[in-house]
Formats: sequence, structure tokens, C-alpha cells
Amino acid sequence: MQKIAIVTGANRGIGFEVCRQLAYLGIKVVLTARDEKKGREAALKLQNEGLDVLFYPLDVTSVQSILGLGEWVEKTFNRVDILINNAGILIDRGYSALEADIDKIRETMETNVYGPLQLCKTLVPLMLRNGFGRIVNFSSGAGSLSRIRTGQPGYCISKASVNVITRLLANELSGTNVYVNSMDPGPVHTDMNPRGERSIAQGADTAVWLATECAETGRFFSDRKNIEW
Ligand SMILES: NC(=O)c1ccc[n+]([C@@H]2O[C@H](COP(=O)([O-])OP(=O)(O)OC[C@H]3O[C@@H](n4cnc5c(N)ncnc54)[C@H](OP(=O)(O)O)[C@@H]3O)[C@@H](O)[C@H]2O)c1
Repeated sequence: MQKIAIVTGANRGIGFEVCRQLAYLGIKVVLTARDEKKGREAALKLQNEGLDVLFYPLDVTSVQSILGLGEWVEKTFNRVDILINNAGILIDRGYSALEADIDKIRETMETNVYGPLQLCKTLVPLMLRNGFGRIVNFSSGAGSLSRIRTGQPGYCISKASVNVITRLLANELSGTNVYVNSMDPGPVHTDMNPRGERSIAQGADTAVWLATECAETGRFFSDRKNIEW
């Protein structure tokens, strides 16, 4: 049976490339984005490559929007195999922790943490019902306690929290065929990181591998290798 994948924040950057790579593997991909026009255009680009990609609107900061996606997926496919929690924002670059702007941290947490958690809450029951699920949470080196430096406090806190969610869910889902992992794509050249030296294809690779090949759960990966939390 053809697998169904949902990718968040996929109108550009790494998420868009994850959609392409998953679809090239024969997976039906639901490309989601908060901006309907940009999302439809992105999906059309991949459809024009002959790929099985469709668009669905999703703002990860809206519980209503996530519940709407969940209902639609259940009604349309009655399954979901892969969830890629890719959508993310970095809005407090240049701040130290002592200068932290709490409003920016709140906004960052809504997108980077509560969105992915709500998506898991909404979609895991369907995965469990079908006996299969792969969840890939986009973290970052900035979320690794062993590598943490200074600056961008909201982003660091959010990505460390993503790792916590990964461990919590992996523990709770232990013994099921639903696996949850975190990953750091490394410094990838995108709108978020114009100085990143890695290609978008490199940034997407580990996410696609986790979604399709890796047999581990509750781990943190970069370049298909286990890394320290
Ligand atoms: N690039 C790097 O070096 C790097 C390194 C480590 C981790 N990461 C992580 O990798 C992931 C992808 O990053 P990227 O570099 O591809 O970033 P990007 O080019 O800035 O793309 C971010 C995507 O997230 C979407 N998004 C933001 N808020 C959203 C919301 N509320 N609902 C739905 N979508 C939303 C954006 O949509 P709009 O177009 O509407 O804004 C955009 O499509 C992020 O989680 C990021 O933290 C990136």
C-alpha cells in the first residue's frame, strides 16, 4: 500500500526538498504550508516533475488548523504513515539569554514546539490504528545541551524542547511500530540560514532516511548518525 507522508512548512527550504525526496521514493506526500498561494505553487512545481504531491493548508500555531488536517487525512486516506515536523522559525538571533525577549520566545515556542506536539497528539492515534508510523522532528545543533553556546535563546530553548518531546513520545510509544526521532540538518543554505554551507538536498537527506529506513526510535541524528543530546 502506498505510504502517506505529511510535511509541515514545506513551501520552501528543507521541507520542500523533503517532499521531493519522499515523493521520488513513491510516497504520496501532503505538502502543507500556512500560506495557501505559496503552498499550492510549491506543490504544483513537484507535480510538474511527475510526483504524487498534494497541498493542504496548515498553520502549525493553530490547534484548529491541525485538527482540520487530522480530520481531512482520516476521511481522505484513513491512514498516515509519516509526519515530518519541519516548520520552524528563528526570530531572536543576536539576543543573549540575559537580553531575551520573552514575547519572541513565546512566539517561537508556539511554532517550533507546541505545533509539533499538537500534530503528534492529532496524528499518532491514526498511526497506532494502522500499526505503523514514523515521526521526524526537526531539531538543531542549537537544541543540543552538549553543544549549546550563547545567543538565540528562544530558538535554543525551542529546539531543546523538541528533543524532550522526541524522548517522551518515543518512550510512551515503545513497543509499537511508531518511531519518533529528532534530527539536526546542519547549517543549510536557506532563508533561515543564508550563511549555511550545506545544500538543501543534504539537509533533507537524514529526515528522509529516518522516515523510510531507520529502525531506531528516541534518538537524535545528524548525517544519518546518532549524535549526543
Ligand atoms: N537551515 C539551517 O541551517 C537549519 C539548521 C538547523 C535546523 N534547521 C531547522 O530545519 C527546519 C527547516 O528550516 P529551513 O532552513 O528550511 O527554514 P526556512 O527556509 O525559513 O523555512 C521554514 C518553513 O517553515 C514555515 N513556517 C514557519 N512558521 C510556520 C507556521 N506557523 N505554520 C506552518 N509553516 C510555518 C515557513 O513558511 P512561510 O514561508 O510561510 O514563512 C517555511 O516554509 C526548521 O525547523 C529549522 O529550525 C535549519
